[in-house]
Amino acid sequence: MRYIIPIFAILVITIVSILGFRGDYSKNTPIEVFPDMDRQAKFKAQTANSRFADGSADRLPVTGTVLRGTAIDSENVFSSQPKFHSDAYTTGKFPDGEWVKNVPVSAGLNMSTMRLGREKYGIHCSVCHGDYGNGLGVTAKFGLNPRNLADSSNAGSYLESAAAWTDGQFYNAISNGSASGIMLGLKDRLSPDERWAIVLYLRALQDYVGQATTASKGQGS
Ligand code: HEC
Repeated sequence: MRYIIPIFAILVITIVSILGFRGDYSKNTPIEVFPDMDRQAKFKAQTANSRFADGSADRLPVTGTVLRGTAIDSENVFSSQPKFHSDAYTTGKFPDGEWVKNVPVSAGLNMSTMRLGREKYGIHCSVCHGDYGNGLGVTAKFGLNPRNLADSSNAGSYLESAAAWTDGQFYNAISNGSASGIMLGLKDRLSPDERWAIVLYLRALQDYVGQATTASKGQGS
């Protein structure tokens, strides 16, 4: 009988010290009874990998295949009046080799296209080109030199030459990458509609950043 209280006390201390601190932050290595899927054999994105001939862990889609959900436009399949885009719409270039000057009207020149462009720009471009298109995305700190697409106050401004670029050329750069091949094309990840939406957003960004930086330059020195 006289052991009951000490045993009870020890039990309480043990249970509290085991269960009581669950969920607390700790710098110690956790004790893993069941490791779940915390650690698994995998290749991280954008890393080197000697297993493949091109030395990269990232793989391109198999030749002749398309991403699920992008091959068939179901509205067209079930419509009695299917709508097909012209080659100029899907390539940014007219059959005679002229670049498409402005984002085609059929891409939808409205606020929802602009929003789509902003969303897709944020996902696919800003890591490199920066939120403001000034070429200062995260990767710029790691030796990559993404083009300054908008900010004329930065070195290596691309604004003047970018203004001379037609929308078709921007569309083509998004689809097939930069001329030198340092930036890869994203046509496997972005539908033509999404690519035109990004071009539309990029134009707005150039206007906005261009005006903001010229205005602040005027006020400053
Ligand atoms: C992995 C980083 C990366 C991503 C993601 C990226 N770019 Fe680039 N981009 C670059 C680099 C680096 C250059 C400069 C390439 C060069 O000097 O050849 C470049 C160049 C460009 C150019 C100029 C092309 C040329 O031929 O001069 C345009 C336009 C452009 N990017 C737009 C975009 C848009 C729009 C997106 C998003 C859809 C995007 N980029 C996504 C890194 C990136």
